[in-house]
Amino acid sequence: MFRSSHYNANVFFTSPKLVAEDIITQQKFMEVPIKYPAKLTLRVVLTCIMAATGGLIFGYDHGVSGGVTSMDSFLKKFFPSVYEKESNVKPSSNQYCKFNSQILTLFTSSLYLSALAAGLGASSITRMLGRRATMIMGGIFFVAGALLNGLAVSIWMLIVGRLLLGFGIGCANQSVPIYVSEMAPYKYRGALNMCFQLSITIGIFVANLFNYYFSKILNGQGWRLSLGLGAVPAFIFVIGSFCLPDSPSSLVERGLHEDAKRELVKIRGTTEVDAEFRDILAASEASQNVKHPWRTLMDRKYRPQLVFAICIPFFQQFTGLNVITFYAPILFRTIGFGSGASLMSAVIIGSFKPVSTLVSILLVDKFGRRTLFLEGGAQMLICQFWQQIIMTIAIAVTFGTNGNPGTLPKWYAIVVVGIICVYVSGFAWSWGPLGWLIPSEIFPLEIRPAAQSITVGVNMISTFFIAQFFTSMLCHMKFGLFIFFGCFVVIMTLFIYKLLPETKGIPLEEMSMVWQKHPIWGKFLESDNPIQNDKMNSKC
Ligand code: BGC
Repeated sequence: MFRSSHYNANVFFTSPKLVAEDIITQQKFMEVPIKYPAKLTLRVVLTCIMAATGGLIFGYDHGVSGGVTSMDSFLKKFFPSVYEKESNVKPSSNQYCKFNSQILTLFTSSLYLSALAAGLGASSITRMLGRRATMIMGGIFFVAGALLNGLAVSIWMLIVGRLLLGFGIGCANQSVPIYVSEMAPYKYRGALNMCFQLSITIGIFVANLFNYYFSKILNGQGWRLSLGLGAVPAFIFVIGSFCLPDSPSSLVERGLHEDAKRELVKIRGTTEVDAEFRDILAASEASQNVKHPWRTLMDRKYRPQLVFAICIPFFQQFTGLNVITFYAPILFRTIGFGSGASLMSAVIIGSFKPVSTLVSILLVDKFGRRTLFLEGGAQMLICQFWQQIIMTIAIAVTFGTNGNPGTLPKWYAIVVVGIICVYVSGFAWSWGPLGWLIPSEIFPLEIRPAAQSITVGVNMISTFFIAQFFTSMLCHMKFGLFIFFGCFVVIMTLFIYKLLPETKGIPLEEMSMVWQKHPIWGKFLESDNPIQNDKMNSKC
């Protein structure tokens, strides 16, 4: 990693002489490697793990909604028309369309709209009151939403509950990833940040398990437990967040310099924190000069960060993974699995996610982000290809193209679930965790909360799209669905290959250098360089 003077460059931007001096200094600095001394202290590990439990609530919700919407008792109570179609009381003429109900998918997707709004709003709170305040708020919203859903007696209680859960998730996802990245020593940032994703996957897995067991108990009221128990991880998250210190960057940003330095000493386990503290101060100074972070984010010099803030979450959702997360039980029932087998398959698939995320945690700071992205992309693509073929054959052989119901041979079911597990692992060690890690580490402090809000917003709107339109995509595209997502996986893998610089082992305050050294972004940013422009003008 290299010494950068990114922030000085901003301060002197108006004077050509100083700009020239600054650029020379910058070039000199670029060759001087710096290291912030830091130990992996117990305090930093516990702090990051505690904050990362915010992922549990996001994951729990992802996992719970698909299972609940495939439970007959739940459908009968809130969506009787879907129940009639699905249970063959009034059979749909097409097997692919029996779960196609916009109101049913609205149950799953409404949450992502409120998460989008909350994610955008949370940016100011995160900036002015700190990361911790946003986390506490998020947890409280989630507790309220989970309880309302568990006690729901009418559809409006379900929808309002979902909206509250969405507010919770928007706040948590906006604040937790940047909090963890700011707290973590740069060498371990990847692994510690990925604990957030690990919590997401554990949340999904636990929700899948609960759905499986609760669907069989309480006279069909088990869905209440599935939905209501989401309050437990949220409660843990609220209590945990109350106990957490705020990050040094956030404390400095709010003028609490003494507290920030004290905290830095504690989390780094050394008193030699001057270099890092100076860089945080410089970053914060640049941040204070930015009065309108949203407008500033549009500046040309932040174009690489903006592109990634939008494309990473968009592509993450268009891997098609959430089709499996939300609707695996529905998808399996569509191709002929029974209700219990569908929920069990979701549990098996769900168990692959945390295990693969652990693999990623072990590898990310060693092999880097790009390697994981490229390997994961290739693995998903190969599986999508086979998934496509196997599903196509399974559905076509069993139901025929007009969708007349039949039964699926057992070995087919095993192959389908097996391929989906390999596909899910590919996602779970690449786009899953990196989808949150990369944005949290590439934004400079002055635009960090605003840019993270964009990431959360794009993630939520894309998740909404998938959640809302999946059943009608299945109904219309039939088995072409996996080709659709396969095309996106090709595009996103090329995108990473060409445009993402390696960010492994670079301190957050030094991150601007990676763009300047990148063959494509470097040229793009150079064309913004005032010295070059001056030269060009004088030639003219
Ligand atoms: C994504 C979720 C996804 C989960 C699955 C997260 O990173 O944002 O949409 O369901 O990973 O592992």
